[in-house]
Amino acid sequence: MVIAIDGPAGAGKSTVSRLLARELGFIYLDTGAMYRAVAWALRKHDLRRHEANLTLEMLEQLPLRFDLLDGELVISFRGTRLGDELREPEITNMASRVSQLAAVRAFLTRWQRQLADSGDVVAEGRDMTTVVFPDTPFKVFLTADIGTRARRRQLEYRDKGIEIEYGLLEAQIRARDEADEQRSLAPLRPADDALLLDTSPLESPEVLKHLVAFYVEKRRHSQRGGQNTVVS
Ligand code: C5P
Repeated sequence: MVIAIDGPAGAGKSTVSRLLARELGFIYLDTGAMYRAVAWALRKHDLRRHEANLTLEMLEQLPLRFDLLDGELVISFRGTRLGDELREPEITNMASRVSQLAAVRAFLTRWQRQLADSGDVVAEGRDMTTVVFPDTPFKVFLTADIGTRARRRQLEYRDKGIEIEYGLLEAQIRARDEADEQRSLAPLRPADDALLLDTSPLESPEVLKHLVAFYVEKRRHSQRGGQNTVVS
């Protein structure tokens, strides 16, 4: 079972996806971290200048691993676990850029589907509902106004000891939104059948409540649908 959650930067996807996965006993798949990890690995291997010519084979040869441990994604590079380094502003910008490359998307889409084969997952990102798991009935698109999103990002960075000016963050988020929405491959957009939820006025526990209720209702609905099919 896959609960697919998409939305722009700062909409609150990571926090509520983690909470939802914990609540339901699902695996939490942070696919943005996977794009960040590819960006980080390309920088480490000094492959940035080859970005335009990257192939699937080149990506497969990177010593990058995606594993699941205690219901969470563990990303490692040559055996060392990656964490906070993936959140550096330079990696954030690089991830946005490399996510436009066909080889990178194909490489990570395959990984994401493979990881989801291991159990029930809450998968969050930009194309979970539209490209990676289009057949799941559990699709959510989270959004929030730009001011709320920039403020949330500022607090997240502050927690990690990084101080970034609000205006700069807002400009960066706008630029990332635009790049994600306008790219030709897997652009960020709500799936036609996704639940749309504006999280601007909501705290995480309230968003979680909405998502649990949506999941329970959808599951009941699809089980009923399944029974009807058998009866007819
Ligand atoms: O979610 P996060 O901000 O960590 O994602 C980093 C970048 O990775 C995004 O700006 C987006 O360009 C890209 N991404 C993507 N598809 C996903 C997840 C993230 O293109 N499923």
